[in-house]
Amino acid sequence: MKRVDDFRLKLGNKEYVPIMIGGMGVDISTAELALEAARLGGIGHISDALVTDVSDRRFDTTFVKDKTREFKHNILNADKSSIKFKLDDITNAQRRHIRGTMDAKTGNGLIFVNCMEKLTMNSPRDTLQTRLNAALDGGIDGITLSAGLHLGSFGLMADHPRFREAQLGIIVSSVRALQLFLRKNAKLNRLPDYVIVEGPLAGGHLGFGMDWAEYDLATIITEVLAYLKAESLDIPVIAAGGIFTGSDAVRFLEMGCGGVQVATRFTVAKECGLPDKVKQEYFKASEEDIVVNTQSPTGYPMRMLRNTPAIGSGIRPNCESYGWLLDGNGGCAYLDAYNRELALHPDGKNIVVLDKTCLCTHMRNYNCWTCGHLTYKLKDTTRKLPDGSYLQPSAEHIFKDYQFSVNNEIALPD
Ligand SMILES: Cc1cc2nc3c(=O)[nH]c(=O)nc-3n(C[C@H](O)[C@H](O)[C@H](O)COP(=O)(O)O)c2cc1C
Repeated sequence: MKRVDDFRLKLGNKEYVPIMIGGMGVDISTAELALEAARLGGIGHISDALVTDVSDRRFDTTFVKDKTREFKHNILNADKSSIKFKLDDITNAQRRHIRGTMDAKTGNGLIFVNCMEKLTMNSPRDTLQTRLNAALDGGIDGITLSAGLHLGSFGLMADHPRFREAQLGIIVSSVRALQLFLRKNAKLNRLPDYVIVEGPLAGGHLGFGMDWAEYDLATIITEVLAYLKAESLDIPVIAAGGIFTGSDAVRFLEMGCGGVQVATRFTVAKECGLPDKVKQEYFKASEEDIVVNTQSPTGYPMRMLRNTPAIGSGIRPNCESYGWLLDGNGGCAYLDAYNRELALHPDGKNIVVLDKTCLCTHMRNYNCWTCGHLTYKLKDTTRKLPDGSYLQPSAEHIFKDYQFSVNNEIALPD
């Protein structure tokens, strides 16, 4: 009977334990978590979502405070189009976040950064270009392009000296999205180094509509593998979404995948950025508590715990401080929803917004409890302590459980 450790992921001319820990913003997949994956010979992701804020918290910078001060005059204005990021600030924050992580790296694995295209920052092209190039400047091993089709993203990095040296990959949820990406980038003569195929059971935003339940990861993987074979493209495929045990992973590796990307099991790891109280909510969740809804202003469905505090919250938008989801015209679906409610309650008190959530603020404050479909199984991966709470396993324990377990077994932490 095979186990994950019988396989290796080949990237460039090196081999890795074929386990990637997926990116989880805002600072849920912390540097500490990613560093453990690299130390153990696999691949860890940090995320650059709200990197100015992450830098402030980790390195005592003042990017958010400075931006808030600059645009304070606009806080009561419904029009947010004038709130622009300073590209230099993004560069500095990103380089600091990446370098700080890379400097601490040990082991034979890799650290990648997850860059979501949907973080449009009121100037989609410039800000994405800045984030991508600053990540390469900072010495990141690789960049995973996510939450968007990224048709122009390779082009935005093409002049960087590390463009052909760093590992660059993309997350897709269909063979069609992959075909589109490859077609649009053909002229750059630079293929992705890996393709993550994320199915409908993943956490965070989904690359599916509200009909997500009609899709199945193994079917999409079969289509992607067949397409790559037909085109004679030797790009490792990484399966993601609902891979909960080493045996689940082996099934995809035996199908021909180069590796797996996993996240939900690690949301309750000691090194994960979620506050301890939130980790206990994840442990306690039952299947009915896990919902997919349209709360996210991005337009993508998102999976989260039903008791997520962000749902129904009518806080004043914080675009002057964050503003990561403002589209190229300063718009955001939460702003529209909030302003609609404000018009009904002009005193600004007791505002409840039921249809959308202020994702920047609530993700930043760990009040939007996004999670994978199999979160309800987390309680079976650990021990209950005498006080009724659940023990947080270490990232190393979870990683090795994926790497060495057989028979769908899950080893409990000591
Ligand atoms: C809490 C949480 C936050 C996530 N945030 C992001 C994100 O910011 N960007 C992204 O591309 N994927 C995100 N994901 C998706 C994961 O990176 C990963 O691909 C997926 O969850 C794997 O499926 P699994 O959780 O069932 O193992 C998130 C997942 C979770 C559980």
